[in-house]
Amino acid sequence: MEVVIVPDAKAGGVLIAETMARLLRRKPDALLGVATGSTPLPVYAALADQVRSGAVDASRARIAQLDEYVGLPAEHPESYRSVVRREVLEPLGIGMDAFMGPDGTAEDIPAACEAYDRALAEAGGVDLQLLGIGTDGHIGFNEPCSSLASRTRIKTLTQQTRVDNARFFDGDIDQVPHHVITQGIGTILEARHLVLLATGEGKADAVAATAEGPVAAVCPASALQLHPHATVVVDEAAAGKLK
Ligand code: F6R
Repeated sequence: MEVVIVPDAKAGGVLIAETMARLLRRKPDALLGVATGSTPLPVYAALADQVRSGAVDASRARIAQLDEYVGLPAEHPESYRSVVRREVLEPLGIGMDAFMGPDGTAEDIPAACEAYDRALAEAGGVDLQLLGIGTDGHIGFNEPCSSLASRTRIKTLTQQTRVDNARFFDGDIDQVPHHVITQGIGTILEARHLVLLATGEGKADAVAATAEGPVAAVCPASALQLHPHATVVVDEAAAGKLK
C-alpha cells in the first residue's frame, strides 16, 4: 500500500483526477468505480476541469457505483444514482448507458446483488475504484466486522453512519435509510487499482488503523493492505495519527 500525504482535500482531488485522466488516455473506455459522500467531490470537480480544458476526454468512460440505499426511489435527490448522475456523469459528459449500479429498489434484493457482481465481472472488472472511508473504517458500506471476503449484499447501516449521513437529509436521521446494497470487500478487492481518499481530522483514527493496524474486519479498509495496487491519499489532517 502506498500512502501519499497531500496538503489539503483540493490537492488530493487534483492528484487522483490526474491518475484517472492518465488511465483514460491509455484506456478511454476504462471502468471507473465511484464512491459518493463528501470526500470524492474534489476528485470529480478536478476531473471535470480536465475535461473542460480538453486535457482528457472522458466521454467513453464507464462508471460503476459502489453502493446504494435500499428503498430510496432512484429519482430521490440523495439516492446514490442521482448523486452519481449529478456529480460524475453530467459534468464528465457520460451517458446513463455507460452507468452501472446496484438496484436498491429491486423486489428481490439478494438476486439484484448477485446480478451486480456478475455485471461487474462481465464488464471486464473495475479498472480504478475510488473509495472514501467512514469514521469507523468502513469502505463502501462494509461496516466493521464485515467479512473481508464478502460479495455485494444488503447491509444494515450503523447508527454512527446514519448520524454521519443525516447531513444529506436536512439533518433528519429519520430520513436516512437503514439499509444499503454495497459491493463487498471481496468485490472491491477485485478492482485493478484501489484509490482511497481521506480528508479531515475526523478520519485520522480510521486512516491509522487502515495503513498501520493489523488486517482485521474491525477496520474494513485495512483489507487494502492485501491488494497489490492500493493508493491511500490523505490530507495533513487525516494523516495526523500516522506514526
Ligand atoms: C459512499 C461510501 C462510503 C463513504 C464514507 C465516507 O459511497 O462508499 O464509504 O465513502 O461513508 O463518507 P464521506 O466522504 O461523506 O465522509
